Amino acid sequence: MADFNSDFWHWYIAILTIISILACVWLIRWMTSGFEHSDEVESTGHVWDGDLTELNNPLPRWWLGLFYITLAFGGFYLLLYPGLGTFGGLLGWTSKGAYEQEVEKVEAEVGPLFEGYLQTPILDLIKDENAIKVGERLYLNYCATCHGSDARGARGFPNLRDTDWQWGGDPTSIKTTLLNGRIAAMPAWEAALGGESGVNEVTQYLLRLSNRATIDELADKGKAKYDIFCVACHGADGKGNPALGAPNLTDDVWLYGGSITRIGESLIKGRNGQMPAFGEFLGEAKVHLLTAYIYGLSQEN
Ligand code: HEC
Ligand code: HEC
Repeated sequence: MADFNSDFWHWYIAILTIISILACVWLIRWMTSGFEHSDEVESTGHVWDGDLTELNNPLPRWWLGLFYITLAFGGFYLLLYPGLGTFGGLLGWTSKGAYEQEVEKVEAEVGPLFEGYLQTPILDLIKDENAIKVGERLYLNYCATCHGSDARGARGFPNLRDTDWQWGGDPTSIKTTLLNGRIAAMPAWEAALGGESGVNEVTQYLLRLSNRATIDELADKGKAKYDIFCVACHGADGKGNPALGAPNLTDDVWLYGGSITRIGESLIKGRNGQMPAFGEFLGEAKVHLLTAYIYGLSQEN
């Protein structure tokens, strides 16, 4: 137990515990000494309603015995298991060890099952109802907090049910996303675009790219800026680049919102969405199942 940073607390707790136990023994002996178990019962001298007398019976022996048994149990327990300060107990039991043993047992049971799934190609797994059920349970445990229990996402957290993929929607790309995580790097553009007016112009151009009404004069100026600053990642046609996680700007799917205000905010602040890596945490087999589950969802469309 490295929780204590000085020996003082070890002794403080150990000594207080032992003193409390000994004090209980003493208290019981003190309270029960001087009684003779006989037929004659002493009265406390309190009498109510004429003849209702309060007697001073000794505790029944079996009852008293229970007290001593609890005390002995406490003593043995503290000798065998951790409890007395930093003393670890003679059995060497630790909660971490118990947890690890349990995990090992479960791994031994389900390990071969997961191993079997890992050897099955994703395209076959999505037809396997049981595999998808396991995948769904994994999803609800590890992914739902961010992507929603229905996998439809929220602002900043992509919808995993649609066919729009930032980092690629084929099984291999999805698996790579899960194994290694993804960090999107969209710089802040306000300064480069020449402040608010430049941001407005480019925003107008993005409206045009996604087939919405625009102020043409501004959109034309925006296009000139887009061609300088944005093509490298989002492409000349605005359709994005999955290798960089640069989203398609011509559709009506917006990770951070597609209103003029939201697009402006994306340009002014930049965006750095992060998908955590799960490879090390979950192991490849579980990631494989999750990939099948996610890929399966997008095939339902
Ligand atoms: C270095 C590559 C790069 C450049 C250059 C770049 N972007 Fe991006 N852009 C990204 C990435 C990556 C994302 C995704 C950010 C995320 O997921 O957090 C993104 C996201 C966006 C979004 C948000 C899309 C959504 O779905 O909400 C908009 C809008 C956008 N970019 C517009 C632009 C414009 C306009 C320019 C040029 C001024 C530009 N980007 C230049 C990489 C780039
Ligand atoms: C802490 C929040 C968080 C958790 C937990 C999380 N994700 Fe994500 N995920 C994100 C964010 C944010 C992005 C978008 C990254 C970006 O902007 O490019 C993302 C992106 C993705 C993508 C890429 C989508 C695309 O369009 O290419 C997939 C697939 C994905 N997550 C699946 C999962 C799965 C499966 C799990 C559970 C194992 C999971 N995520 C857990 C936050 C999370």
